[in-house]
Amino acid sequence: MSLKMEYWNQKTFCLVTGASRGIGRTIAIEFSKKVANQSVFLLMARSTSALEETKSAISAATEGRVSVITSTIDLEKPDKDAYLSAIVSALTQTNTTASDFDHSILVHNAGSLGVEKKLKVVEMEDLADLSGYFSLNVISMVILSTQFFKTFNDTAKQRSIVQITSLSGLQPFKTWGLYCTSKAARDMLMKVVALESGIQVLNWAPGPVETEMFDNVCKHTGDPDLLKAFTECREEGKVLTCEQTVTKLVKVLAEKKYVNGEHVDYFDVE
Ligand SMILES: NC(=O)c1ccc[n+]([C@@H]2O[C@H](COP(=O)([O-])OP(=O)(O)OC[C@H]3O[C@@H](n4cnc5c(N)ncnc54)[C@H](OP(=O)(O)O)[C@@H]3O)[C@@H](O)[C@H]2O)c1
Repeated sequence: MSLKMEYWNQKTFCLVTGASRGIGRTIAIEFSKKVANQSVFLLMARSTSALEETKSAISAATEGRVSVITSTIDLEKPDKDAYLSAIVSALTQTNTTASDFDHSILVHNAGSLGVEKKLKVVEMEDLADLSGYFSLNVISMVILSTQFFKTFNDTAKQRSIVQITSLSGLQPFKTWGLYCTSKAARDMLMKVVALESGIQVLNWAPGPVETEMFDNVCKHTGDPDLLKAFTECREEGKVLTCEQTVTKLVKVLAEKKYVNGEHVDYFDVE
């Protein structure tokens, strides 16, 4: 696969996790405007009705030239058969096969904050909480990648991953032990994918973005200094919209100005 191939304007199969709201919904909508006719989008999250809203928004934005399939799935319970079956079903429902697409894109966007209990790392002792957290934020991502690229396995075609990461993957923050660790793990997993395979990978840190998650940051962050920093960021109007971060992401992907597997932050690029 040549990295010189155009990222956009290709007949694309794109899977977006966490497409029911926030950054994931905007990614699904904005990416759908950039791909060729007869592309297929597979949207995953738990909320069926919210996924349907994203689907309607894509249909309106693309005037129906892109097919959208929704899949209600709880990524906290990693299930390789369910993931494969959702991908295969999306192909069947759109009367396509993997070989019909010139580009396959997997967007690992779904995630959770895990800071609500305001715990320091040395206070974490609930095994079910820990296991659930890493199942959603790390393990499901690995298993979904496996099933996706088992299906889109033609190495002559363009294959991509966009992983939504955070500054927290690089920098530790008090009371954010789980979140920081999961983002660091996701970044490294994706760097290894970039080394091992011909898949092009971007780890995109979107900056602070006004979503339900950011609301939770301002409600539940345990460390007072960190909480103050986020609250001030919001009060000073420095929190981005989903459209701002996704517009820049679309541009970074188009221009391919990143090293494969690199962590690129919203504020790193013009
Ligand atoms: N907002 C920020 O400031 C910010 C900054 C840096 C990085 N990020 C990252 O950006 C990504 C998106 O965040 P956001 O701010 O858009 O958050 P959000 O508004 O809370 O959206 C999270 C998405 O993930 C889905 N999700 C959550 N738990 C799930 C589960 N168990 N199974 C399937 N889907 C699940 C949600 O859908 P359902 O509830 O319908 O399942 C929703 O679509 C996350 O990876 C986050 O860490 C956000």
